[in-house]
Amino acid sequence: MLPLPRRAERAYFGLMDHAPRDDSDDTDPLRRLTLDELRLRTSMKWRTYPDDVLPLWVAEMDVPLAPPVVRAVTEALARGDTGYPAGTGYARALADFARARWGWDGIDVARTAIVPDVMLGVVEMLSLVTGPGDPVVVNCPVYAPFYQFVTHMDRRVVEAPLGEDLRIDLAVLEEAFRHAVADRGRAAYLLCSPHNPTGTVHSAEELSAVAALADRYGVRVVADEIHAPVVALDAAFVPYLSVPGAERGLSLMSASKAWNLAGLKAALALAGPAAADDLARLPEEVSHGPSHVGVLAHTAALREGGDWLDAVRGGLDGNRRLLASLLAERLPRVRYRPAEGTYLAWLDCRQLGLGDDPAAVFLERGRVAFSPGPHFGTGGAGHVRLNLATSPELLTEAVRRMASALG
Ligand SMILES: Cc1ncc(COP(=O)(O)O)c(C=O)c1O
Repeated sequence: MLPLPRRAERAYFGLMDHAPRDDSDDTDPLRRLTLDELRLRTSMKWRTYPDDVLPLWVAEMDVPLAPPVVRAVTEALARGDTGYPAGTGYARALADFARARWGWDGIDVARTAIVPDVMLGVVEMLSLVTGPGDPVVVNCPVYAPFYQFVTHMDRRVVEAPLGEDLRIDLAVLEEAFRHAVADRGRAAYLLCSPHNPTGTVHSAEELSAVAALADRYGVRVVADEIHAPVVALDAAFVPYLSVPGAERGLSLMSASKAWNLAGLKAALALAGPAAADDLARLPEEVSHGPSHVGVLAHTAALREGGDWLDAVRGGLDGNRRLLASLLAERLPRVRYRPAEGTYLAWLDCRQLGLGDDPAAVFLERGRVAFSPGPHFGTGGAGHVRLNLATSPELLTEAVRRMASALG
């Protein structure tokens, strides 16, 4: 390794040395940083609200980065290797990760493209398979930018609400597909897998049924699989393109959520075998958008960040259990069904009588920031989304603040 990265790495790990650690689990990255250290961050999570607000909203994680990522970035900086991205290293790393983690051998590098980030990738994929004014079906409540980006690109959002169990309701989805294609014949389905905000991990059976429905109605599926690596230790993520009948599908994947790399822009678009011609129409200039250093960081995460990821997954399993018990004890009227995927928790606060936007009340009276449920579309009123990617101490403090808002 070059001299500068060594120094940078020492400085980096030096910072971590000052963090008080919970000796019960020294390997959990979620327990490494203090609130004071986190408040030094200048990103959206930490700079949107005043310092007396505890931020558990936007999907950034309160972790030090995985050491292989730090090494890859500091070495690139030492080399002055900050030009444009080249090659297929990211796609090959994802193909190997998919084989090792999900037992899926289906990523053919020839059917991949680098894109700047997942949402811009979603826009590009939707542009390939739909035209202006065409409908895009989503399972609400869902990640708010699905509405914003789809509308901004002059497509129409058609909502197919999740069922009471927070899973895809196939009958409702079929009705939405029927309605979507009735008009102009062409429609897309923007699948969120695992699902944000509920954390639902779709099963192979559900995804196969989705593929069959999409095929029957001629709806093109674009799967946002950004949260794919972040599932409970005993859960299994199923890539959409791996299920039978999904050959015409397109998918977006990235290391950005699982390794907290949103500031290092890069993502991958994947095409099923029967969508290769569509992906081939992606304008070449789109691949100029990702950051080269981002591509190197994401590649290192996928290739060498597996142990770190598993430590985070274990920590999140603990945080889900902790949140459930804290809520049962302090806020029993809040309904929380721990899910298998993502580091997000979807809290049904309707029984608290705080109106459509309980997050506004928790912010105002409790000084704790969550993502407001109504931002997630139909079904979001009366809910908040809590970001679990923090320490058990801060999670406990967040619930204390929620309770204090009601007192
Ligand atoms: C489902 C989903 N898609 C996309 C994104 C954003 O990804 P990117 O920053 O790569 O556009 C997020 C961020 O939280 C997300 O939850």
